[in-house]
Amino acid sequence: MNEVQETVARDESASEGLTPGGVWLEARSLRKVYGAGASAITVLDGIDLSLSQGEMVAIVGPSGSGKSTLLHLLAALDTPTSGTVYFNAKALAARRSDSLAEFRNRRIGFVWQRHHLLPDFTAAENVAMPLLMRDAGYGEALRNANELLVEVGLASRARQRAADLSGGEQQRVAIARALVTKPAVLLADEPTGDLDELNAVAIMDLIERLHQKHLLASILATHNPVLAKRCGRVLRLEHGLLRPDAAYQQAPLPVTEGEKS
Ligand SMILES: Nc1ncnc2c1ncn2[C@@H]1O[C@H](COP(=O)(O)OP(=O)(O)OP(=O)(O)O)[C@@H](O)[C@H]1O
Ligand SMILES: [Mg+2]
Repeated sequence: MNEVQETVARDESASEGLTPGGVWLEARSLRKVYGAGASAITVLDGIDLSLSQGEMVAIVGPSGSGKSTLLHLLAALDTPTSGTVYFNAKALAARRSDSLAEFRNRRIGFVWQRHHLLPDFTAAENVAMPLLMRDAGYGEALRNANELLVEVGLASRARQRAADLSGGEQQRVAIARALVTKPAVLLADEPTGDLDELNAVAIMDLIERLHQKHLLASILATHNPVLAKRCGRVLRLEHGLLRPDAAYQQAPLPVTEGEKS
């Protein structure tokens, strides 16, 4: 990197100060079309979404409706056909590739349905991986990873191979890994999809606790109505559009006799 590039990089990271309670992640008119010509499928057809710090939003919708596609676009893991994702009011598309990589690595924590842990590495090494990928020292990365493992209740499993952990434990490790870089936004794609009901509720309890503790802005894609109901806002993705889900709207309070007159 030359001197000018270094200055630009410094300026970009300095301007990333996030407004407490502000809109941190936003999508405008997002479209995603897979394929071309006669075989093109429009999965997202004009998505508008804004997510503020402290908010926990559930995205529900039938299988194949585009929930994962949307989360991938929000995390800059894929690019939209048209439309824009903004982080901290700055368009992802306007970022240089190193700033985009930094966004993915540091600003977003992503939890996948299947945890994608490296089976032969220990729980602590898996959690440390995002830090190691950005050249943190091994000792420091492991210290941070161990702190996160305490937070998810797995301090005693830190040196166990990921492959030897239970499904619920593996998902806890994946959550610790998503948060080890201290991201602003947590995106979780059916984080309880592979778990039984008891483990699913335990993972939701954990996500909710960490969301509050770390003052995050969070989105959870889920098929589980019990978990969706626990989020402040529930949006349904269907036919390429995202709308408030009527099934989860609070019923209006009944009007009392006194208020009628
Ligand atoms: N890379 C791709 N190429 C072509 N089509 C794709 C690609 N990725 C996803 N799709 C299609 O886009 C649609 C939406 O898929 P997506 O995985 O986002 O749905 P989903 O709501 O997450 O489903 P599920 O609830 O089953 O996880 C599906 O019809 C899928 O086949
Ligand atoms: Mg999906």
